[in-house]
Amino acid sequence: MSVQFHNVVKRYGEATAVAGISFTVEAGTLVTLLGPSGCGKTTTLRMIAGLELPNEGRISIAGRDVTTLGATQRDVSMVFQSYALFPHMNVLENVCYGLRRSGQSREDATKHAREGLLQVGLESYEQRQPSELSGGQQQRVAVARALVLKPSVLLFDEPLSNLDARLRRQMREEIRELQLRLGLTVVYVTHDQQEAMAVSDRIIVMNAGRIEQQGNPRDLYERPATPFLARFMGESNPARGLLRRLDPATVRIRLGACEIDVVNAAAADGEATVAIRPEAIAVDRPDNDGANSLAGTIARASYLGTHMEYSIDTAAGLLFATCPQVERPLVVGDPVALHLAPRGGDRG
Ligand SMILES: Nc1ncnc2c1ncn2[C@@H]1O[C@H](COP(=O)(O)OP(=O)(O)O)[C@@H](O)[C@H]1O
Ligand SMILES: [Mg+2]
Repeated sequence: MSVQFHNVVKRYGEATAVAGISFTVEAGTLVTLLGPSGCGKTTTLRMIAGLELPNEGRISIAGRDVTTLGATQRDVSMVFQSYALFPHMNVLENVCYGLRRSGQSREDATKHAREGLLQVGLESYEQRQPSELSGGQQQRVAVARALVLKPSVLLFDEPLSNLDARLRRQMREEIRELQLRLGLTVVYVTHDQQEAMAVSDRIIVMNAGRIEQQGNPRDLYERPATPFLARFMGESNPARGLLRRLDPATVRIRLGACEIDVVNAAAADGEATVAIRPEAIAVDRPDNDGANSLAGTIARASYLGTHMEYSIDTAAGLLFATCPQVERPLVVGDPVALHLAPRGGDRG
């Protein structure tokens, strides 16, 4: 079911946690609230759940105004960062708990709980205690417990933050697969940009209680609307460039002796800050004539297995570049010629 926020504000005393946000989560999609710690993600999620009520604005779920309804009057389940499993109950009892409370008979609750455990691949663990499960398995129990309530909206608050890096990737794939398979409406919170890009249909980027930009992962990465976005969604080099419009859809950016044409319908002519993605900088040995390239010197070089990372001194400042060529790496002091690729060379 869809979720809609209209100019929602949440204050705690003098402090404004959420400063007037509006967005729509379409039914059957996974939308992520992404932003640095303290930007208002959890507060927003808790307002969807009815665990907090807004000071201003309206919230609707499936077209129904739920602004003043409490958590039990909304058809929403939340999976918490800490999982919040009952330590003295086994897996089956944990998953049954909410079903029993909602009035199902022991027999029905057990049947539905077993179906939920099957969906997350834990059908043979029903007699285990939470303390006998790995972090990933506890996470799956928490997901099953929320799923069996058949909520119209499922909420996740940083569900992977207690897991190690390898398991995080696996669990995020499992959550996405489950959401697609069951056609769930999910609002997902994380501060991790890669996690957000991997699981989301749409991402809402928050900063200091406001929405900075929303869109699909590719739009946000390739067309960041603000310098905050360019820094927060992946890495980028800020540099001063000279812009000149070629046609309604294209601008030419001049950076030292280097020129590049990028798709951009909004930027005005003149000097501007441009954000250059590290992977959009091609690091080459110096050309003969230096045409259409930016001269530089390698200041730092790191081998990362899959790629090299270089910091390069240039007339446009110190630039950070990644380079898939690891066979004959450049070393500190090497002179280089930089070329820019249109991907990621957008205005920040
Ligand atoms: N119960 C509360 N009382 C007072 N301030 C709160 C409370 N909950 C959150 N805040 C404040 O609201 C802001 C947003 O918090 P939160 O939504 O938890 O951010 P995030 O989840 O993005 O890290 C923070 O400044 C936080 O300190
Ligand atoms: Mg939080």
